[in-house]
Amino acid sequence: MLSLFKDLPIGLGTWHMGESHATAQAEAGAVLYALERGVRLIDTAEMYADGGAERVVGQALKAFGAQRRDSLCIVTKVLPMHASRDGTIAACETSLRRLGVDYVDLLLLHWEGSEPYEHTLEGFAALRERGLIRRWGVSNFDAPELVAWCAAEARMGLGTADDACAANQVYYSLLARGPEFDLLPAMAVRRMPLMAYTPLGSGELAQEARLAAIARPLGLSAAQLALAWTVRSGAVVAIPKSATPARIDENLAAATVSLDDDTLARIDALYPPPQRKRPLAMI
Ligand SMILES: NC(=O)c1ccc[n+]([C@@H]2O[C@H](COP(=O)([O-])OP(=O)(O)OC[C@H]3O[C@@H](n4cnc5c(N)ncnc54)[C@H](OP(=O)(O)O)[C@@H]3O)[C@@H](O)[C@H]2O)c1
Repeated sequence: MLSLFKDLPIGLGTWHMGESHATAQAEAGAVLYALERGVRLIDTAEMYADGGAERVVGQALKAFGAQRRDSLCIVTKVLPMHASRDGTIAACETSLRRLGVDYVDLLLLHWEGSEPYEHTLEGFAALRERGLIRRWGVSNFDAPELVAWCAAEARMGLGTADDACAANQVYYSLLARGPEFDLLPAMAVRRMPLMAYTPLGSGELAQEARLAAIARPLGLSAAQLALAWTVRSGAVVAIPKSATPARIDENLAAATVSLDDDTLARIDALYPPPQRKRPLAMI
């Protein structure tokens, strides 16, 4: 189910990268470090630093080398305000220039705006036809919106094989378990993976003493436990952001951790699963 993500459930987020000239060089170095250490999925967006994060990723990709491009999964996002047919195409072309690549593996609608889904889908389909994107998907879509999106695909004769929504990127972490109630089940029916953003609760979970107490006897850090928990089903990829090499290694190591039932029960006691529907949390 994670083949689009090169079968690795931990990637790298880039929000807040590229916001300052003073740090951009080091951030590009951190992205390159992640790639050299085996991270295969990079998540970015035209919105981040107004294109600055895509430029940081582009710098890292250039140093990584075009011959290894196909081993990666590069994900970027189009803003709802650009999500008309032509706006989507133009935004993607601009993203590709900043990233310095010929295609992105996945282009997401960042969140739902006022543009009809069909218009954005026309843009996505045209981009796919031209080979500028491999797949498309959505972000911040709750279950009803996702069902409506898939229905729009079906009406347009899309929605099968590679012409279908490939992923939904939402806030999912121990601090935001809402998607377990109905979104993850709705996605499971479609065999659609979930991209979990802010899986460390913006860093908060890494500092959580009660989580660290569960993690320590397992030889894990609190951050690693939070990430291993997030991706435990095999249908979720997590995209923690870090510009710190040691933390990038720490986070990537969580990809191979599996958690036993006793550990999962102790985590549930700290962060209970949802008992009723709640609106999708967004950051
Ligand atoms: N689709 C959307 O609407 C949406 C919304 C939000 C985020 N996202 C994506 O999801 C990515 C991740 O979310 P996020 O950046 O909001 O939050 P996050 O990944 O939960 O947390 C990032 C913060 O945690 C710190 N950190 C990372 N690894 C750590 C570790 N092992 N120990 C201690 N601290 C650690 C980072 O600091 P350092 O960098 O200093 O190491 C950073 O301050 C974003 O970067 C973005 O790509 C998407």
